[in-house]
Amino acid sequence: MLNSPERLEVKNLSKAYQLPVLKNLEFAALPGETIAITGPSGSGKSTLLNLLGRLEYADSGEIYLGGVNITGLQKEELYNYRNKMVGFVFQEHFLLPQCTALENVLLAALPAGEGGPAEKKAVQLLNKLGLSSKLDSFPAKLSGGERQRVAIARALLNSPKLLLCDEPTGNLDAANGKLVVDIFLEIAQAEKVIVLMATHNLELAAKFKTVFRLADGMLEKV
Ligand SMILES: Nc1ncnc2c1ncn2[C@@H]1O[C@H](COP(=O)(O)OP(=O)(O)OP(=O)(O)O)[C@@H](O)[C@H]1O
Ligand SMILES: [Mg+2]
Repeated sequence: MLNSPERLEVKNLSKAYQLPVLKNLEFAALPGETIAITGPSGSGKSTLLNLLGRLEYADSGEIYLGGVNITGLQKEELYNYRNKMVGFVFQEHFLLPQCTALENVLLAALPAGEGGPAEKKAVQLLNKLGLSSKLDSFPAKLSGGERQRVAIARALLNSPKLLLCDEPTGNLDAANGKLVVDIFLEIAQAEKVIVLMATHNLELAAKFKTVFRLADGMLEKV
């Protein structure tokens, strides 16, 4: 497994804005691994997730996923990476209010131009996340926990290899936060997705296999 072609490998990754944020980060993760990233506000957790999702550029260093150096991807390859290889879950659910739960999940299939099979998978995911009776509900009629589960289904629609979650439980109560983290653990194991979650909640972080603390631009294992 150590040489699994599906592994995530971060080498010497650095990023500065006005000041250095990430300093020569190194870590690796195997398929199905769950990694929690903790650390003070402003320590660079979101920056790290944004670099991994190629929402921002690294100043130096490399990120490999499945043997491909994603720091070098351009145009169509980058587009494919963001739409197919990575799923994002944020603190805010970013659901479209005018679309139902099912339609919101299907939004993830639009860039790929897919039709029927995507709908079947969207329904399966929503059922699996306990939302079978809410397929046609609009976000305004869903609870915060239900909205976040719709956002998770949307992130999983294209079967990503890497799920990047930035404070996904930040707006949820304790019970829903635990539910969401349990969903990530199950997805990681069942689908062999690598899950990276930035969080301030140390109790939830501790449920993940690996817990890092980011401080002074460096990662240390907790
Ligand atoms: N686009 C940007 N331009 C300039 N500075 C930025 C930008 N994005 C982040 N920063 C700075 O980089 C540092 C790290 O920010 P980041 O958002 O990654 O922290 P965080 O660990 O996610 O914090 P929080 O726990 O509050 O979400 C902060 O000092 C922030 O001000
Ligand atoms: Mg953040």
